Amino acid sequence: MTTVLITGANRGIGLALARRYAADGGEVIGCCRDPEKADALKELAASSGGRVRIVQLDVANEASIASLKRSLSDQPIDILINNAGINGTPKAQSANCIDPEGWMTTMRVNALSPILIAQALRDNLRRSSEKKLVAITSDFGSTGTDWGPTTNASERYSYRASKAALNNGMRALSRDWAADGVLVGILNPGFVRTDMGGERAAASSAGISAEDSARGLARRIAELTPANSGTFQNYRGETIPW
Ligand SMILES: NC(=O)c1ccc[n+]([C@@H]2O[C@H](COP(=O)([O-])OP(=O)(O)OC[C@H]3O[C@@H](n4cnc5c(N)ncnc54)[C@H](OP(=O)(O)O)[C@@H]3O)[C@@H](O)[C@H]2O)c1
Repeated sequence: MTTVLITGANRGIGLALARRYAADGGEVIGCCRDPEKADALKELAASSGGRVRIVQLDVANEASIASLKRSLSDQPIDILINNAGINGTPKAQSANCIDPEGWMTTMRVNALSPILIAQALRDNLRRSSEKKLVAITSDFGSTGTDWGPTTNASERYSYRASKAALNNGMRALSRDWAADGVLVGILNPGFVRTDMGGERAAASSAGISAEDSARGLARRIAELTPANSGTFQNYRGETIPW
């Protein structure tokens, strides 16, 4: 049975991924900051016949990451999905206004935490059959994309920087852990109708559901090979410029 660990599994894309892998017969370790309030994830766990387990994890807290590692011990993890992320605090950080503390929080949650979690669970990945490390990133991290003035990208300096840093770190792990057989997916989920995608995704014809995004992401994860490990793709399998 495939064991999948997902961060930020209580809502949005993380919850849709947890439902997807549970429906496919996988064993899911759904991590979330506040299990008490994770009603949808608790419902999924209750109806899963013991295949969905909830573990508390604040990705921004190193003690919480260490506690996750202790609770897993040597359990093999086939697919580790670093999904938890934030829009930026405050969301709007532009050429005219940067909030230094908020910038660092965004970098910690979106860029540093996935690497710390990957390092903490490296042996769990190595012990598994699939050995897949996945980051849910964003095309806003693409330095090669000219977003132009019509998107809100010009107000998203910290979010964009954090996802570019995440991509860079994951790309490096794909090289440095290749000898262990670890495959790395750097995946943009699309423009998704979640709390983060918000009203813009709901109002836009380009917006997709979390379920459609999760279906595409799971397909891309299934297709990971040494040849495409460390590439930057969207949920449809199209390559995104760095
Ligand atoms: N939606 C889109 O259009 C879109 C586009 C591109 C990329 N993405 C990426 O997709 C991923 C998921 O986004 P989403 O749309 O599903 O967002 P969302 O609905 O806002 O959910 C974000 C998830 O991350 C969790 N999280 C945030 N900070 C955390 C922390 N310190 N510790 C543990 N969990 C934490 C949240 O938990 P709480 O409930 O505890 O806050 C929540 O489960 C993110 O990495 C995001 O950058 C989304």
